[in-house]
Amino acid sequence: MCGIVGYIGHREAYPIIIKGLKRLEYRGYDSAGIVLYNDDEFKLSKTKGKVSDLEEKASKEIDNKGTMGMGHTRWATHGVPNDVNSHPHYSNSGELVIIHNGIIENYEPLKIELINRGYTFKSDTDTEVLVNLIEEIQKSKNLKLGKAVQVALNQVVGAYAICVMDLKKPNEIVAARLGSPLAIGLGENEFFIASDASPFIEYTNNAIYLEDEEMAIIRLNKPVKIRKIKDDQLVSPYIQELQLNLEQIEKGGFEHFMLKEIHEQPDVIKDTFRGRLLSDKGIIRMAGVEDNLEKFTRAKRIVIVACGTSWHAGLVAEYMIEEFARIPVEVEYASEFRYRNPIINEDDVIIAISQSGETADTLAAIKLAKEKGAFVFGVCNVVGSSIARETHAGAYTHAGPEIGVASTKAFTTQITVLALIALRLAKEKGTLSHSEYLRNLVELELIPEKVKEALLADSEIIKIAEVYKDSNNCLYLGRGFNYPVALEGALKLKEISYIHAEGYPAAEMKHGPIALIDEQMPVIVIAPNQNHYDKVVSNIQEIKARSGKIIALVSKGDVQVRKLADHVIEMPQSTEALTSIIATIPLQLLSYHIAVMRECNVDQPRNLAKSVTVE
Ligand code: F6R
Repeated sequence: MCGIVGYIGHREAYPIIIKGLKRLEYRGYDSAGIVLYNDDEFKLSKTKGKVSDLEEKASKEIDNKGTMGMGHTRWATHGVPNDVNSHPHYSNSGELVIIHNGIIENYEPLKIELINRGYTFKSDTDTEVLVNLIEEIQKSKNLKLGKAVQVALNQVVGAYAICVMDLKKPNEIVAARLGSPLAIGLGENEFFIASDASPFIEYTNNAIYLEDEEMAIIRLNKPVKIRKIKDDQLVSPYIQELQLNLEQIEKGGFEHFMLKEIHEQPDVIKDTFRGRLLSDKGIIRMAGVEDNLEKFTRAKRIVIVACGTSWHAGLVAEYMIEEFARIPVEVEYASEFRYRNPIINEDDVIIAISQSGETADTLAAIKLAKEKGAFVFGVCNVVGSSIARETHAGAYTHAGPEIGVASTKAFTTQITVLALIALRLAKEKGTLSHSEYLRNLVELELIPEKVKEALLADSEIIKIAEVYKDSNNCLYLGRGFNYPVALEGALKLKEISYIHAEGYPAAEMKHGPIALIDEQMPVIVIAPNQNHYDKVVSNIQEIKARSGKIIALVSKGDVQVRKLADHVIEMPQSTEALTSIIATIPLQLLSYHIAVMRECNVDQPRNLAKSVTVE
């Protein structure tokens, strides 16, 4: 899961590639590199670190001229992040140069074969093996670049999005994909190639998204030629009009993308149900669900597959679908599901949840479920992503681009879509009283306003963050719908502030985690005045008896918990199910402020990447 940018046209390539790489840094930021074609030579610069480090190094190492080039921002798979392992990689002759996002699983036997033929390797990467394999094929079979790339890709096992340039072909870039996304932007006598459309959005809104196992020959002043890698069949390109705009991918005055995205939630939640929820008429209308209503209502079981934050949204959905529609639900980590020979029946419905729509494990779980005959429904944010295309039907979350690596608005919009599905199924099955159904619809419509209100606790949260910013550990507790919210709160804190944090169902505390509680331990308890309130109050008393520090999320006007807790954060109340969306907001803000106070890189936490296209 790296970021790729390529350019061939009439403008200077360097600024386009650098700006594009910065926009793609969410995909990986261990190292970065660029290669330009200029004066019959390749000019290459690469370094460990971020794109800004690359800019500094490149300004000393190369002249930044040239109208064709490509760049890479890396999330390391093979080989530690250092200058040598950074992309681009040359072939042994120096005539070919490659950038690659993905993983070549059979690189070891290929490398041994190439070493036996006299090839040498500078880096530990699988990518350098691929570029030398292309070179070997090109030379031994006397093939053009495109053909050699095709033959090589038919020998590799794994996932890739690649761009290759050949010194002998100064007006051509060959690109290909399998499992990692690649878009080609079409301008006037110019082409852009990138992992997503954000690097070229100000130049064109026409793009071709390569499908898996397709390759493109991109030549100046010629139409893009697309072929199937396996059988060489020519494909007529489908040109898509992009919906993205520049404003969506910029920070808009906020210090970080994460903060901007937290504050966008009232609007994007509204976008999620716009046109789908007509509360005055008591109607929920989602094409993907309507067209497959029978499959859902006849399902003996729904299995949800996802990873990370999306898995947490799946847990909230489990509670909602079982509560409202009375259909049994299981929630599985996609990575476990795909490898444990799960029992899947033809009358199972699988819901796959993914912000990026590119997560490798989730994609593989979908393919497995489809092979076994199940109907697969996707809940994705990125329009046209691999998961959106691989599923039988689906619903987009409409959260807009999420650039902060820590997921925020994707989570709350996923819950919104899943609530709509659960309620629609409940209506069809008659499992919820009409008044309860209507109450949830009306409440869902009020969520954007209530999220706005929850955001007003920011200054209070900053004060709490000041007190606990130096903690080493943190415990998050919640019951019912708020148990997954506790898990999500803990994940947010650990991934951006590097404080160890765990989420638990509040009652489970007694079965182990209570041993950790002392006066150093902040415990964040989600305690709205709802169903399990008294039970949660008892849990708070248990923490207090062991001198733990209590930060409680309470309903507006709460009295009882206020007397026990060290700090309270008030939030507006909704139905039990929908309070899960509101309770998420203060936890996102708390993690954000603690991370900023600890001087962590909030938008690009260490070792992470936004879209995990390797397993
Ligand atoms: C956490 C986070 C990750 C993702 C996970 C799945 O903030 O962002 O845990 O939720 O990698 O990604 P998607 O939803 O793109 O499949």
